[in-house]
Amino acid sequence: MAVCRSWFLLLTVVSAAHAEIKFNLPAGKFFSYELMRETFQSDFESLSQLYLGRLYDDPMVFKCNLQYFPDLPEWLRFTQRHPFDNGFLYGTPMSTGKSVIEIYAVNKRSYETTRQILVLNVIAAKSPSYQAEFFIKLREIEKVLPPAVQDEIKQDLQKLWDTEALDIVNISNALDRGGRVPLPLAGHFEGVYVKVGSEQKFSGCLLQVQAPEYQRQCATGAKVKVPGECNFCSIPSNCISWCSTELFDLTQMAPSPPAPTLGSGVLEAGEDFEPPKSPEDRDFLPDYLVTIIVPLVVALVLCLLLTYIMCGRREGVDKRNEKTNQIQLYHHHTILDNTDELRSMADHRGVPPPLSTLPMFDSRTGAQATPSDSPRMPLIMAQHDPNVDTMPRK
Ligand SMILES: *[C@@H]1O[C@H](CO)[C@@H](O)[C@H](O)[C@H]1NC(C)=O
Repeated sequence: MAVCRSWFLLLTVVSAAHAEIKFNLPAGKFFSYELMRETFQSDFESLSQLYLGRLYDDPMVFKCNLQYFPDLPEWLRFTQRHPFDNGFLYGTPMSTGKSVIEIYAVNKRSYETTRQILVLNVIAAKSPSYQAEFFIKLREIEKVLPPAVQDEIKQDLQKLWDTEALDIVNISNALDRGGRVPLPLAGHFEGVYVKVGSEQKFSGCLLQVQAPEYQRQCATGAKVKVPGECNFCSIPSNCISWCSTELFDLTQMAPSPPAPTLGSGVLEAGEDFEPPKSPEDRDFLPDYLVTIIVPLVVALVLCLLLTYIMCGRREGVDKRNEKTNQIQLYHHHTILDNTDELRSMADHRGVPPPLSTLPMFDSRTGAQATPSDSPRMPLIMAQHDPNVDTMPRK
């Protein structure tokens, strides 16, 4: 109930102003925050529209990141199944400190964006000594994250653990832990891991998980039912898989080695700093010869060769070809002379030139315009058009 009330309070704060939303989170405890589409919808619409009661139901996508960074902190995950669903930020912080999360909502109808700031202040807290992880096969992460569903699952586990003092430590998608994407068919789900913790010792029911008979049955891969007296699941989709249950007794675990102590970073007085010896000098001459001189010589040789081919071996200059050239020149002159001769002969023929050489020859009728008109005639006739008489009338 307290959770519900705080959620309601939170919502009113969000819709009232664009203020930063602050959370104080104990380290090692599960945190989830639902990005309500309705809240962002009211940001996209003017107040007058709100009062008229016409609220659109726009598809929205969210982009979340740590302020001034491209991505979320390592422990925080974001999920949203569909633009018409709410989004969720969830995860379990382990180290203390403050994180400022920026949430951008993009309205996929109008492409407007709006921003929300989430300030997460992680405070130190002790991890519960006894922890247990359960696998819920018939669930998907988005269906488990709404606080009401988390409460349902927690209530079942409280009965199984036989204690009220139970906290959710982690909820994670089975796909993030090597699970397979299920077939897109009804009755196939991704699965969700829920880890809870308590200071209370494991109950008899929980300890049965480690009983040899169940260990043996589970090892064969058979479907093992939750023992009758321990079956507390009230909603079928929240039922746990008995064989995937794991218990962690943190009191039995070896304490992690202490972190290395960091010095001040300043050398103690009296000690002289000895810089490391610089490496021996390198001889760069061979490198220089190979990379600069050799290509240069090759380029020069090629250049000279090209010069010789282009200039030294021109046909007209080569002595051996002189004779051939003279013959070619002679040939050329004879052709020119012959042409001239033919032209002068044609001039004196006294025969009218062929019709086709005259400018006004009509290829279809054979008619020929009288040369006396020629000054007024265009050199090239327009295409003959039966409707337009282009011939000048006398
Ligand atoms: C919670 O689960 C995720 C996914 O398996 C894992 O990466 C993360 O370390 C877990 N956090 C804690 C505190 O166990």
